[in-house]
Amino acid sequence: MEPMESERGMTMGNRGWLERLREYEAPNVTFVDADGGWPIVWVSARGEWVWDVEGRRYVDLTAGFGVAMAGHRSPALVRAIRAQLRSLLHGMGDVHPHVGKVELLEQLSRITFERWTGQGGGRRLRGRAVLGCTGFEAVEIALKTAQRATGRPWVVAFEGGYHGLGYGALNVTHRELFWRPFESQLRRFGCFAPFPGREEDLGRVERCLSRLQRRRAIGAVLVEPVQGRGGIRVPPASFLPWLRAWCDRHGALLILDEIFTGFGRTGRWFACEHFGVVPDVICLGKALTGGFPLSACVGRSDVMESAWPPSAGEALHTSTFQGHPVGCRMALEQIRELERRDLAGRAAGMGAWLMERLRGLRPAPGLEYEVRGLGLMVGLEVRRSDGGPATAVVLDALKRMLVRGFLLLPEGADANVVAFTPPLTVSRAGLERAVRALGECLDEAARATTRERPDHA
Ligand SMILES: Cc1ncc(COP(=O)(O)O)c(C=O)c1O
Repeated sequence: MEPMESERGMTMGNRGWLERLREYEAPNVTFVDADGGWPIVWVSARGEWVWDVEGRRYVDLTAGFGVAMAGHRSPALVRAIRAQLRSLLHGMGDVHPHVGKVELLEQLSRITFERWTGQGGGRRLRGRAVLGCTGFEAVEIALKTAQRATGRPWVVAFEGGYHGLGYGALNVTHRELFWRPFESQLRRFGCFAPFPGREEDLGRVERCLSRLQRRRAIGAVLVEPVQGRGGIRVPPASFLPWLRAWCDRHGALLILDEIFTGFGRTGRWFACEHFGVVPDVICLGKALTGGFPLSACVGRSDVMESAWPPSAGEALHTSTFQGHPVGCRMALEQIRELERRDLAGRAAGMGAWLMERLRGLRPAPGLEYEVRGLGLMVGLEVRRSDGGPATAVVLDALKRMLVRGFLLLPEGADANVVAFTPPLTVSRAGLERAVRALGECLDEAARATTRERPDHA
C-alpha cells in the first residue's frame, strides 16, 4: 500500500522534500543551499515552536515573517477559524458583504483613528478602509488613495524601505535587486529620500525633500516608522513628527506602512504611537490575522471620502477574495487576543530585556556589533572592524543557529543584520537560549569565515 503523504514526509526528510520542490517550483522562489544547510521543510507549528519533516523542533524567532504575533496557531484563533468554517468559507467581496467584514471594518477604525483622535476636546474621527489580500496590495491601495485624493502622482519613499513587490509597490520599494529586472515595465512615480538613523541626519532629509518638492508634484510620503527588511532601523524621535508637519505644509498625505510594525510588535499598538504622530493613511497586514492573507489600507474618513467616490456598481479596487470571511474572523479574534493579553505591553518589556542581553554579547574577534530596535523588533548588526558588512559571517551563523534549533532571518541590504521578530508570547527562556547560542554561532562563523577567506575576515 502507498504510504500516506504525511508518513512519506517523515521518512523522506528535508533533503528529499527540497529535491521535489526544486523539480516543480520556479527556480527563483526558494533558496536551497547546495550544502543542505538551508532551508528546512515545515510540517507544524504551535506557539513559539515550529517542527520540520524530520520531527526536529525550532524556536521561531521570526514569527513566520512577523505574522504569528500571538504565537503560531493560538487556540483562540483556531477556535475562530473552526467556527467560521461552519457557516461561510467564501464571500462576494465588493458585492454582497458578510457580517465579519462589517465587524472588522468597525474594529479597524476603533483601534486606529478613533483611538488616536478625540482627546483634549478634539473631534473623534473614524477610519474607513479598503481590505486587500497581501501587504503590497494594502500599499498599492494607499498609493491609489493618494493619487485620487491629491491629484498628484509622485510619492516620496525612503532609502532602505520595503513595501512589497507588486508592480505598484515596486515603484516605492528601494532595493534595486527587486525592481531592476522589471524596470522597463514600471512607470516610476516613486522617488527616495535618505532614511535618518540619527538626529544629525535630519538636515539631509529636509534638503532632499525640498529639492524633490520643487521638481515634482508630490501627493504622498510613504514611510515605515521602523524599517524592518531594511535592517531594523529606528529613526530619531523627531523624524515622524517632522514628516507630519512637512506633509501638512505641502498638502501631501502621510502614509505609514505598519505592515511589519503594527499590532504590538514595537511595544505599542502601532509604532506611530511612540512618536505621537497620526497618519492620513495606514497600511496593515502580516499580524492582522495571525496567519491568513488579509491586509488593510485604513485612511482617515475625510481622506477616504475625498479619494474614493461612492460605488456605482464597479469598485475601483477589489479582487475575488476581498475581505475573506476566514481572514476577517481571524483578524477579529487576533485583535481581541492581543488586547486581552496586553501583548504590546509584553513586547515592550521583553524587547528591552532582549536588547540588553544582546548588548552583553562580546563581539567575535575582528567584528563589531550594534544592537537596535523597538519592542520585539530587534536587530543585531554585524560589521567587520574595517566598517564593511560581515555578510558571510551572519549567513553562516544563521545556518548554525538553524542546526541548533533557532529560526532567524538576516535583514538589511547587505544581509548583515540578525533580526529578532518573535511571537510576542515568546518565552524568556527561549530568548535567553537564543542569545547565548547566537554569541557562540557568531564566534564559530567568524573563525570559519576567516579560515576560508582570510582577506574577508
Ligand atoms: C513594511 C512592509 N511593507 C510591505 C510588505 C509586503 O507585504 P507582503 O509580503 O504581504 O506583500 C512587507 C513585507 O515584509 C513589509 O515588511
